[in-house]
Amino acid sequence: MKKLIDKLYKENYLDKTELFYLINNINEKDKEYLIQRAHETRMKVYGSTVFMRGLVEFTNYCKRNCVYCGIRSSNKNSDRYRLSLEDIMSACEEGNRLGYKTFVLQGGEDDYYTDEKIVDIVSEIKDRFKTSAVTLSIGEKSYESYRKYYEAGADRYLLRHETASKELYEKLHPNSSFENRRECLWNLKKIGYQVGAGFMVGLPGQTKEDYVKDMHFLKELNPEMVGIGPFISHKDTPLRNEKNGTLEETILMLALIRLFLPEVLLPATTALGTIDPVGREKGLKAGANVVMPNLSPTSVREKYSLYNGKICTGDEAAECRRCIEGRINRAGFCVDMSRGDNINWRRK
Ligand code: 5AD
Ligand code: FES
Repeated sequence: MKKLIDKLYKENYLDKTELFYLINNINEKDKEYLIQRAHETRMKVYGSTVFMRGLVEFTNYCKRNCVYCGIRSSNKNSDRYRLSLEDIMSACEEGNRLGYKTFVLQGGEDDYYTDEKIVDIVSEIKDRFKTSAVTLSIGEKSYESYRKYYEAGADRYLLRHETASKELYEKLHPNSSFENRRECLWNLKKIGYQVGAGFMVGLPGQTKEDYVKDMHFLKELNPEMVGIGPFISHKDTPLRNEKNGTLEETILMLALIRLFLPEVLLPATTALGTIDPVGREKGLKAGANVVMPNLSPTSVREKYSLYNGKICTGDEAAECRRCIEGRINRAGFCVDMSRGDNINWRRK
């Protein structure tokens, strides 16, 4: 096992048989060793810095119906909201005052925000905060739409592949195409975005073979960012009675990704902080190097409910900034408020 971990550390690759063997047979001691190797890799590439992104959840309307998600279209208990351009700008203003240099605009797939509206929002933020990066996370769009947002100044795009198992993907995403989602990711890369893909851990029915596929898909796509978080059940979804993903499994996936893609930007996700009070700190120690505190107006925080028990709801952006910085420092890392681009990236 140690030899296999060292091979992964040196070559940043294991074939499917080796990786499956590793995931299936790793014991507690080996896990410690793997995490140590992942941490070493992170220190070599990015040092002890943790990049901060300000997250603005600007709409919880969504036309899709992903079975795990609290804002799925058929959830009639979801209290829907949309932020205006002005609301979004004041959230970014607050973020700017707190030093944020990256704004992540995330929302459901909401056709109210036409391409024109998205272009206006992106242009306005880029114009007002000239040295800041804008990240979009608004789902599957056409090549042409992605190109328009990029021309307007969007720098990055987050679109998790959710799972690399076609069968599981199709079970969880009614009326959606596994192939189209992957196509979107390749399109985003082609246009020139810094791309974030990623998956959930501990989905009902997900197997160790599926994680092998996730790792290999990500190795092939070679995205600049990877978002990995545990599945957490939401009471208003068909998966309400399913077990959550575990801390241990999520940490294992974070450490593996750090070794497969040494230069990737890897958030310690809010979902990880939700299943364990020190989940994000443990993530940072296993190779994660990004956190994404919330800048959304407190009045809408609780409404952007993808899963239950989400942390930070009701906390002011400034408070959250202070809290998270303290946590990062106590975990032995330091906050970096710069744009935090992937070290390999140049805008086309
Ligand atoms: N548990 C964990 N993560 C979830 N997401 C959506 N619903 C859940 C849930 N119930 C994740 C998806 C999506 C991201 C924005 O949030 O991976 O891409
Ligand atoms: Fe947001 Fe602690 S991380 S309040």
